[in-house]
Formats: sequence, structure tokens, C-alpha cells
Amino acid sequence: MSLIYDYSNPTAIHFGKGQIASIVKHINKDNKILVVYGGGSIKKNGVYDEVSKALNDFDWIEFSGVEANPSYETLSKAVELAKKEKVDFILGVGGGSVIDGSKYIAAAALYDEDGWAFLDGSAIIEKALPLGAVLTLPATGSESNGNAVVSKKSTNEKRFFGSPFVYPKFAVLDPSVMSTLSDRQLANGLVDAFVHTCEQYLTCPNTSLLHDGYAQTILKGLFTLANTWDNRKDPIWEENLMLLANQALNGFIGSGVAQDWATHMIGHELTAFYGVDHAQSLAVVQPSLLRVMIEQKSEKIAQMGENVFGIKNDNEAVIVAIEKMYQSVGVTTNLNDYESVDDKVIETIIPSLKAHGMTAIGENQNITLDICEKILKMAM
Ligand code: NZQ
Ligand code: ZN
Repeated sequence: MSLIYDYSNPTAIHFGKGQIASIVKHINKDNKILVVYGGGSIKKNGVYDEVSKALNDFDWIEFSGVEANPSYETLSKAVELAKKEKVDFILGVGGGSVIDGSKYIAAAALYDEDGWAFLDGSAIIEKALPLGAVLTLPATGSESNGNAVVSKKSTNEKRFFGSPFVYPKFAVLDPSVMSTLSDRQLANGLVDAFVHTCEQYLTCPNTSLLHDGYAQTILKGLFTLANTWDNRKDPIWEENLMLLANQALNGFIGSGVAQDWATHMIGHELTAFYGVDHAQSLAVVQPSLLRVMIEQKSEKIAQMGENVFGIKNDNEAVIVAIEKMYQSVGVTTNLNDYESVDDKVIETIIPSLKAHGMTAIGENQNITLDICEKILKMAM
């Protein structure tokens, strides 16, 4: 079948050491800037100082305290500030949570009603303040895509939106800022990027000679990084993770081909209720999902086996190789290994998936709630 797609990625990328200074190329001197960041890691690793230095001649204010899995409750305070101070530009400095939060602020600041409407699907974003990103944790690809995931703490909901209006105008990817990342966050980044690629690759066969080759290069690269985990403090290792995670979710490998995303939809619910990190949730769901859907995905799992892991004619061995890779960087594939997880997973997660309309997910919309239940039981 021939490909049909529309693709546009308007984010300018500034890659490499010292590139934080480039932010001034994109921001108008007359603009009032809101610098958004998280719990303070940027104050320990010099990133805050570099951003402050670059913005020396600019008019800027700041909002800190955006947490991992950014909450609607915290972001609403930033929206209020942006409106009150008549901010013109949002600069997110952090990981996926800060950048996603900045996208929410950018859209909600120009919206008269409650911005949660973008997350529950009752409103579509029609405009947003311009924003930029200084990435400190390679994982989500948020720095150059139009997606954001926001959680409402009061109702244990983790929802997402996608909009062409919230692509960052620019993203700074300076791998030297990764030196302060913990092993947990580095492993999370590697796993998240791997699963992003799988969500757009481990689906149905396609005819493109480019898409699968590109995806396989990303997967092989991430597998190599897992196999060289002991070198993770090497600047070249860090640089490669930043390159690969960015390309895994900047939209290209998924353009015009089938996409799955069921692992993410189930994983978001696990994070909302049990607080497991985003990538941790994916590592427990994905292997079980692949086992349950092994027939439907057989051609692509076999292709991945051959081209990524060097495994022929044994799809179960490919799934085991994925599990071993996650475990080798310290991420468990068993949900019960998390202390926060109770014995009410099915009664908790299945109704929530239903409430969020996730009743027929996956590339063929045939992962029903019954199949989600099977996947979750296998993940425990
Ligand atoms: O709060 P700070 O101080 O910044 O600390 C963070 C946070 O505690 C820390 N960190 C970040 N850079 C650091 C650092 N610590 C030391 N040195 C550095 N250089 O790491 C912790 C986790 O950060 P977070 O931003 O939460 O991690 P990640 O980048 O993995 O983002 C996860 C969020 O992104 C969403 C997830 O659901 C989750 O909410 N996703 C967004 C996507 C998108 N926009 O396309 C797609 C993904 O599938 C994902 O759903
Ligand atoms: Zn993800």
C-alpha cells in the first residue's frame, strides 16, 4: 500500500555543548519571558546559570516546581502568573515533564476557560504562546514534538493532548547537561525512547524502504547503549542517547505508517494510580502486550529480531531480549516489584481506561478492555 502523510516539524534544533547561548537567536527582545523549570536540578548543574546569562538583556520571570508527571494543579498556578504578567514567550528548561508543562501553560495562557479541557478532549487548542525548550533529560522527544501529558492529581488522571500550536520554536540539546542525571533517569530515557520507536514500528508491515530502516537504526543504537551501560558517563554515550531519543519521537518514523501506543495508554494509568515512573510503566506493560499480541505482530517482531537483535525465527526470544535489555539497565519488567502496587490493579486500571475511552486501542483498534486485563495480569 502506498504511503500518504502530512509531516511538518518546525522546531529548530541546536545540538551540542555550549548551545544554550543560542536561545537568544529566537526570542524577540521586546518579549516578556516566563522561564519554567522543575525541582531545582538546573540550579545544581549550571544550566540555570547558563540560561540566566543568555537572558541577561531580556525581561524575564520564572516559575519553578513543575514536578515529574506535571500536575494540572501546579501548572494552573503558572498559567495564572503568565496571564497576570502578560507573558509573551515560554521557555521550558528541564525534562519531558517541564517541557510538556510549558506546552500546557503556553496554550492555557491564551484560553479563557479551564485548560484541562485540552486534556479531557472537550476543547481543541486554537492558539498558544510561542515556546522554546532547553532539554536536560533525553527521553520523551517532547523538545521537538507537539505532544504533552498532564496529570490531575485530585482524580488520578493522566491525559495527553497533541497540537501543532505547541511545537517548541527551538530546542537546545546540549548533552553535557546530562552529567548530573541519576542512573534511574538515564535508564528511563533509554527505555522510553526504545518503546516510542516500537510503538511506531512493531505494528503492521509497510512498503517504505526508509521508515523501518530508520526505526531499526534507532532501536539498534539504543540496544548498543544498553550493552555499553558501563560507559554511561562517557560524553559520546550521552550524546548518542540524546540524538536517539530525540529522533524516536519527532514524528517522522510514525508518519504514514500504522501506530500502536497501547503500551503508553495502559502505562499512563499505572503512573496515575501507582506513581511508577513513565518508563517503568512501559517496561512492565510492553513485554506482556507483545506476548498477548504475538500473532498479530508476528511479521514485525520477526523483522525486529533479525535486524536489531540478530535472532531468527523465534519471536518469543525477541520479547525475552527486550526484557533482558530493560533489566540490564535496572528497569524491572514485573509490576509487582513496585511496592506501591496493590492487589487491586485490575479493578483500578480497567475502569479508568474505560472512562478515558481506551476501549479499542492498538494499531488495529482491537486491544479491548478484556485484552488489557490479560496484559496486566501477565505483567504482574
Ligand atoms: O524537577 P527537576 O529538578 O528538573 O528534576 C528532574 C526530575 O526529578 C530530573 N532531571 C531532569 N534533568 C536532570 C535531572 N536531574 C539531574 N540532572 C538533569 N540534567 O529527572 C526527573 C524526571 O524528569 P521528567 O521530566 O519527569 O522525566 P522525563 O523526561 O522522562 O519526562 C516524563 C514525562 O513526559 C511524559 C511522561 O508521561 C511524563 O509525564 N511524556 C511525554 C511525551 C511527549 N511530550 O511526547 C511522550 C512520552 O511518552 C511521555 O508520556
Ligand atoms: Zn513515552
